[in-house]
Amino acid sequence: MTDDLSAQRIVSAISGGFGSPLQYFDELGSTNSLALEWADEGAPEGAVVVTDHQTAGRGRWGRSWSSAPGSLLQFSLVLRPPSAVDVGLLTTLAGVACAEAIESVAGLLTTIKWPNDVMLDDRKCAGILIESRVTDSRLTAAVVGIGVNVVWDEDELPPELRERATSLSSRLRAAGRDERVDRSELLAAILSRLEGHYRSLRDGVSSEILTLAKLRSTVLGKHVGIRYMSGETVAGRAVTLSSSGALVLDVDGEPTEIEVGEIEHVLDP
Ligand code: BTN
Repeated sequence: MTDDLSAQRIVSAISGGFGSPLQYFDELGSTNSLALEWADEGAPEGAVVVTDHQTAGRGRWGRSWSSAPGSLLQFSLVLRPPSAVDVGLLTTLAGVACAEAIESVAGLLTTIKWPNDVMLDDRKCAGILIESRVTDSRLTAAVVGIGVNVVWDEDELPPELRERATSLSSRLRAAGRDERVDRSELLAAILSRLEGHYRSLRDGVSSEILTLAKLRSTVLGKHVGIRYMSGETVAGRAVTLSSSGALVLDVDGEPTEIEVGEIEHVLDP
């Protein structure tokens, strides 16, 4: 049993405005679901829902997100972005904030697989799901849901994830470091970075977040295959990120912007 995550520990680790108000649960269906409901009831920007264990966690594209009690950091943050903020860039921002925080707390080198999977040694260690509320064509809330695999060992993962996923503790052990990452401290670090980068976006500065995302990208300069939600696929060389965080591919000499898709394969140039 780990005792690194509790409302009290989180409150004492947090230094900025994100993370207040806070709701903590030992077990919950999905933090994103509760945060969306809370947003509907008027939760302010910065409100956070955290749980030790999700019983109905959701991933991108309607997939389920598995977890084991005591093993992951799982939380959702409520944002109220003004209309000037490009929602596509929230996806980019969340990936960068999470990658930076893992790197600073665990001292492990992170990369980002577009759009925002956080990777350690080419395996996914954190996933991000952003869900929005739109009323009368206006975005009223965006919920940023983040799940970081902190201690769930590779050989205990569900079989379908074993080859592709990892945890911070597995990578620390592989590096010969017998250390444990404190989930409350990691949460505070992610929230602090989310808040800083979000403030820049609100102030109209988006170049910084795009530069940081490009520097960590696992795909730029490589030949990639992408699958759209429809099931169709496209392949080309990943050239850059657009001003809204879309992946720009060179497909037989034609620039093609992918706003929503998933990387199916990556080939080195
Ligand atoms: C993905 O990689 O498919 C995204 C996974 C997002 C998981 C997080 S865990 C906290 C939040 N609550 C959810 O139900 N999902 C997100």
